[in-house]
Amino acid sequence: MADQHGSSATESTESSGSGSAGVPVSRGLFLQLLTATISFVIVAVPAALGGLFFLDPLLRKKSGASGSSGGAAKKDDEGFIRLDVTADVIPADGLPVAVTVRDDSEDAWNKFTDVPVGSIWLRKGAEGVISAFNSVCPHLGCSVNYRRSENDFYCPCHTSAFSLDGTKMNEVPPRDMDSLEVSLRTEGKADPAGLEIWVKFQNFQRGKAEKKPL
Ligand code: FES
Repeated sequence: MADQHGSSATESTESSGSGSAGVPVSRGLFLQLLTATISFVIVAVPAALGGLFFLDPLLRKKSGASGSSGGAAKKDDEGFIRLDVTADVIPADGLPVAVTVRDDSEDAWNKFTDVPVGSIWLRKGAEGVISAFNSVCPHLGCSVNYRRSENDFYCPCHTSAFSLDGTKMNEVPPRDMDSLEVSLRTEGKADPAGLEIWVKFQNFQRGKAEKKPL
């Protein structure tokens, strides 16, 4: 008599299917493989993306070295940067002109091309010679302005004042304004009559009597 409780039809609960060759695949083994695969995806994919994220600046630097990232063609090996203004637009009467200096800039993760990196004052002296001064106040780093009423340079933060040749006129600033080297050029080559203005732009330590580059 047949077992009414179905005990004669008992099948192994350890076997839930068969492989491609008809070999039974244990459900436990299948679950282990599935778990291992999912774990691998969860761990490996973020790790790979994280690796790329950290390596990215290095990769971009390599790319830049090959010349594919462009860059400012306006800077020479000595650090002179060609300004966007030309010598003929600097007033002959000695009135100073504020000019923004642009250069490539980069931090640990990003490289920026042709962005503002500072500001300078340019003016023509008595002989028409062009002088350049960093507009950062040598006292504590505010911006030095041109004060038309006094025809001088003036920093409103703590009242530093300078004559138009950059000489300090009171005891507030520790030194004169920071002058910068200027080179007139034609197509990048030194030419005293050239219209291109190239400036060796630098920033200097503040609050010190001695002019020391940062
Ligand atoms: S920062 Fe210019 S006077 Fe102090």
